[in-house]
Amino acid sequence: MPSSLFQNLKIRDLTISNRSWVSPMCQYSANNGIVGEWHQIHLGAFATGGAGLIFVEATGVVPEGRISIGCPGIWSHGHAEAFRPIVNFAHSMNRAIGIQLAHAGRKASTMRPWDDHLIADESEGGWQTVSASPLAFHGMPTPRELSLYEIAELTEAFVNAAKRAITVGFDLIELHAAHGYLFHQFLSPLTNLRIDEYGGGFEGRIRFLREVAEKVRAAIPTGVPLFVRISATDWIEGGWDLEQSISLAKELGKVGVDLIDVSSGGLVHDAKIPFGPSYQVPFAEAIKAEAQILTSAVGMITEIEQAEEIIASGKADAVMMAREMLRNPRWPLNAAEQLGVHVDWPNPYRRASKLPR
Ligand SMILES: Cc1cc2nc3c(=O)[nH]c(=O)nc-3n(C[C@H](O)[C@H](O)[C@H](O)COP(=O)(O)O)c2cc1C
Repeated sequence: MPSSLFQNLKIRDLTISNRSWVSPMCQYSANNGIVGEWHQIHLGAFATGGAGLIFVEATGVVPEGRISIGCPGIWSHGHAEAFRPIVNFAHSMNRAIGIQLAHAGRKASTMRPWDDHLIADESEGGWQTVSASPLAFHGMPTPRELSLYEIAELTEAFVNAAKRAITVGFDLIELHAAHGYLFHQFLSPLTNLRIDEYGGGFEGRIRFLREVAEKVRAAIPTGVPLFVRISATDWIEGGWDLEQSISLAKELGKVGVDLIDVSSGGLVHDAKIPFGPSYQVPFAEAIKAEAQILTSAVGMITEIEQAEEIIASGKADAVMMAREMLRNPRWPLNAAEQLGVHVDWPNPYRRASKLPR
């Protein structure tokens, strides 16, 4: 049986060589939003490791959109240019590379996870956070409600960030609308109490994300794929749920989004989440089936057979892996060998390949 995991996937003009992808992962290691050597080595390792697609972590479209003071940004030409060597290296290894454009909203302005406190104050480079409504995330400062003018400005910031990303060669764009960050704060009735056109019913709550997706789509070349990462559920009564996610996916499909990257949670701190292998895969499966759109599955996918089965059974079109890729950045090369698939190892590593050439 040929492997499903190692079939390529063509989306618009981009052919991705296999279905095992590196999920976006914050590194908290940028300098004033500018990526450097850490990112080159970190992302470079995945490029030598055989993943079909590598995602750069949540990257702020404005300085205040970063999660932490160490998160990267793409709000200027200089910030974008810092990604160029990383993109070029991924391409030299025949890997596709995408960037996750983000705004953290009320969950922004933190220190790095390994610092001794959570919230960055002004002297440490922190800032006043913003959100759909002035509701604080557990243990964090109360954000300021965004005005209509600021929503329009942020929409432009996403568009300009996407254009800069394309300029430096990224193959695709992902909008980060999951994990309780700004778009998610607009989507969920628990965090969006607005009474203007960006709040209220489903239509109002999805408006910001839909408008940004539509404008980003129009601003990037037709051949470039556009993904959106969502949290399929808040895992809490009265919150965002799978049904709304399916409806959202249909709306996003209509404005030219190609793939929904399906995660969950992150909006509230006390959700009861049934963590376990593949625990989010059923959401990717339901959205794929109901909204007729490509999906990727993520979350506790670590084993070769597990990943292969998710693709072979048609539950999702790709798997994204985060922590397992940190443990073993060459997971895809090893998986291919175990599945008996010939993939090209980087030339200097060829002697490590176990399959006869
Ligand atoms: C160190 C680290 C940083 C992360 N940063 C991001 C991020 O920038 N954007 C995002 O959407 N998810 C982020 N995540 C979540 C992962 O992309 C992934 O969805 C989650 O870890 C579950 O997958 P896993 O079980 O394979 O680790 C991060 C996870 C880790 C471990």
